[in-house]
Formats: sequence, C-alpha cells, structure tokens
Amino acid sequence: MANVIVVGAQFGDEGKAKVTDLLAKNADVVVRYQGGCNAGHTVVVDGETYKFHLIPSGALYQKTCIMGPGMVIDPERFLSEVEALGNLISVDKLRVSTTAHVTMPYHLMIDAAEEDSRGDQKIGTTKRGIGPTYADKCARSGIRVEDLLDEKVLRSKLEWMIPRKNVILERLYNLPPLKVEEVFTQYYEYGQRMAKYVSDTAAIIFNSVGQKKNILFEGAQGTLLDLDHGSYPYVTSSSPTAGGACIGAGIGPTIIDRVIGVSKAYMTRVGEGPFPTEQEGEVGDMLRQIGKAWAEVGVTTGRPRRCGWFDAVLGRYSVRINGLDCLAITKLDVLDEFDEIKICNAYRDKTTGETFKELPSIGASFKNMEPIYETFKGWKSSTSECRSYKDLPVEARKYLDFLADELDVSIAIVSVGPQRDQTIVIEDPIHGPKRVLTRST
Ligand code: GDP
Ligand code: IMO
Ligand code: MG
Repeated sequence: MANVIVVGAQFGDEGKAKVTDLLAKNADVVVRYQGGCNAGHTVVVDGETYKFHLIPSGALYQKTCIMGPGMVIDPERFLSEVEALGNLISVDKLRVSTTAHVTMPYHLMIDAAEEDSRGDQKIGTTKRGIGPTYADKCARSGIRVEDLLDEKVLRSKLEWMIPRKNVILERLYNLPPLKVEEVFTQYYEYGQRMAKYVSDTAAIIFNSVGQKKNILFEGAQGTLLDLDHGSYPYVTSSSPTAGGACIGAGIGPTIIDRVIGVSKAYMTRVGEGPFPTEQEGEVGDMLRQIGKAWAEVGVTTGRPRRCGWFDAVLGRYSVRINGLDCLAITKLDVLDEFDEIKICNAYRDKTTGETFKELPSIGASFKNMEPIYETFKGWKSSTSECRSYKDLPVEARKYLDFLADELDVSIAIVSVGPQRDQTIVIEDPIHGPKRVLTRST
C-alpha cells in the first residue's frame, strides 16, 4: 500500500501524464488536486494519443478518478472531455468534488481581457479563466460545483455577482454585459448533466485510505508555476507543489508515503517569465523541433514552448520545496542528436558577480541571474529502444548520474519516448528508499 504524489518539478509539461499513466496501473484511485483545463496532459498507448485537461491521466486504466476540491472546473469543457473519452474510460468511476470551484463565462472573458490589457506585463495565461476563478474563490464569491445543482442558490449568487462583473466587463474592457437569466439557464443545465459525477470526494479518499488502497495524486502544472513558490507573478493561481495535494484533495500529510518529481532531461516553459537557461538560437530550435512526435508545442494552447538546458539550480529548489523522494526524467531521447549538452549547475548574479548553487530567492533577484554551465559530450545515438539503465550509452549515464548527484535525489525512472514501454525503471519509484533530507541551502 502506498499513497504517492506525482508533481511537475519544472515549469509544467514535464511528462507528468506519462508517469501518472505508468503508475496508475497499480493504483486504485487517481486524484487531480489543483488547476483546471489549463493543464494539457498527453498519454500515448499503442500509437494512439490521448489528451487530458481536467480528467486525471490515470483514467485509461479504468480506475476511480477524482477531481478534487482544489480544482477549478469549466463545466462545458468537462462535459465535452467526458464525451470525447467516454468509451475509453470508466465514466461511472469518475467523481467531481462538490466544493471544486466553477469557471464561469465572466472568468473566461476577464482572463482574456486582462491579459490583453497588460501589455508588456502580460503573463501569457492559457485564457482558460483560471486566475479569475481562483480569485473569486479567495474573495469568497466563487460558485462551487454544488451550487450548480441548487436552482435557488445558483440564481441568487448570479443575481448578486453578474451585475458586479458587468461593471468590469462594460466599463473596464468595453465588452458586452452578461444576462443573469441566460447564464443561469446554461449553467443550471450543465449542473444537471454533471450531477451524477458529483460527490464528497475527500470522503471517498479517506475511506480508500482506510481500506488500504493505493492512491495516486496527480499534480498539474509545475513547481516553478506554483502561486507561492514559483516565479511570481509568472505563475498559475494554484499550488501544484506536493503540499498542494493535501489541501487540494482534502487529506492530511500523514497519509502520504512518497513524492515523485517529474522533470524533462532539458527544460521548457510556455508563457512569459524568467527562464535562465532558455536557448533562443539553433539549440532552442533543435530542442523544439526534434522529431514530429515530440514537437514542443503546448497541449492546451498550441503555443510553441520555450526551450533550454536543464537547470540544476531550479532542480535543487524543486527537490527542496516538494521534499522529493525520487525523480522521473523524461524525454532523454530528445537529446540523442546533440554534439554537446549543457546543465546549468550554478547562477551568477549579473550585478554583483556572486555565484549561487542554491536559488538565493525565488523573488525579484531570480531575474538577474545568469547560468553557469557544465558541458557534457553528447551520446549521438538513439536511446529510444533502451529498456534498462545499462542499455543507455555511457555518456547518457554520465549525464543522468551528474543530475542525481547534484540534485541529491535518486532517478527512479527514465523515459526515452512517449510510449508506455519506452521507459527505464532504475529503482522502484513507489517502494524505493525513502529520501533523507540532509542538505541545507
Ligand atoms: P504534462 O503536462 O507534464 O503531462 O506533459 P505534456 O503531455 O504536456 O507534454 C509532454 C509531451 O512529451 C507529450 O507530448 C508526451 O507524449 C511527450 N513525452 C513524454 N515522455 C516522453 C519521452 O520520454 N520522450 C519523448 N520524445 N516524448 C515524451
Ligand atoms: P500542465 O499540467 C505548462 C502556464 C501558462 C502561463 C501561466 C499561467 O500541462 O503541465 P494560467 O492559464 O494557469 O493562468 O497561466 O502558467 N501554464 C502551463 N504551462 N503546462 C501547464 O500545464 C500549464 N498550465 C498553465 O502558460 O505561463
Ligand atoms: Mg502539459
């Protein structure tokens, strides 16, 4: 029995879905605990590609899938995702929390309008209404899934809310106002269609713990996009880090046995914000374009991902913030063609010249850092058929060993392609040795 959290250890899109899918085989319950349809999660099975935005990526194994209270749910997208995946997953085992917040039409309109108005301060959001939905949740003005099921409550909340949102839409953004009756009719109807999935999901998880079931908590986004611990303000509005699983699922930290971080063998970012190891020239293009199957384009928005070398300073930060027990390194195969490969192992402050192996602060000073690189010889051969650590070229092993040593965490899984079987398991990711945190910053 083990209850495991899978988190993105970089800026999102690390390949969490592939790892979640692999681990879901032996899980009984898979739980998404934060974020919404800003997530784009890809699982490839037998050459078929499946994309998840709201539904947990463990769904293909027909497990109980939970969308927890910490999520924000756009009902229209939820219903169309259920429809699209309907006969591939066990829809009758899908559960949505009564207390998850609902993304309303004004959230979508405000997200887009706010982004467009920010000019050079734009965040590059997915325009899925995520920030405005969480903002209303914090302001205690949100609409929760349970409200969609109660005609009276929904109507009275909208009667209070919509005139206020209309002031913003009309006066600030010159947009057409929304009509209470139209929004009510549409969202009450969504509620009726969602009703059969709606449950007290924290209770389901609690009971599953009591029955000694295996629970897998699937993070969306990544550590550097965390609202508190990421590269604020260029972050999402939720807590993708391991601590977020407890709050977002409604469980106590004492039930967690293990935290697995997922990182690419290099790094990508979609949207604005600092990215010290970003490569804009030939290297960036090569990372972005290598092979059609792994073109670096965002799953949700179709925007090209910014690409760069692995950043071990941020890697160490992720190990610390999440208390990672082990890492899954994905997309090693993308580096197969490079003559040389770099890892940023320290930063230099551009103003003072001071160097840091640990991130001095995730605040403003982070933007003023330039990377100091270690250079590795490329292996210049395909790793996509390797199925064990010893199958990997010696240079690839050196690269991975360096990462494990420098991040002070073991690498349990290495992924060498998008398919399920393109995976090397170095140590049992669930029952491997529990990591003892000894390092200080
Ligand atoms: P997530 O958001 O963290 O789940 O990641 P995404 O699904 O947004 O992006 C990861 C992309 O990389 C998807 O297209 C995956 O199919 C693909 N992928 C995952 N692991 C590997 C790998 O080891 N090699 C290659 N080439 N592609 C991979
Ligand atoms: P997965 O789960 C990569 C980024 C956006 C933007 C910032 C805020 O697939 O890893 P938001 O719409 O959340 O308010 O946007 O966060 N972002 C992601 N980047 N992967 C994701 O999800 C992301 N979800 C949000 O690009 O920079
Ligand atoms: Mg993604």
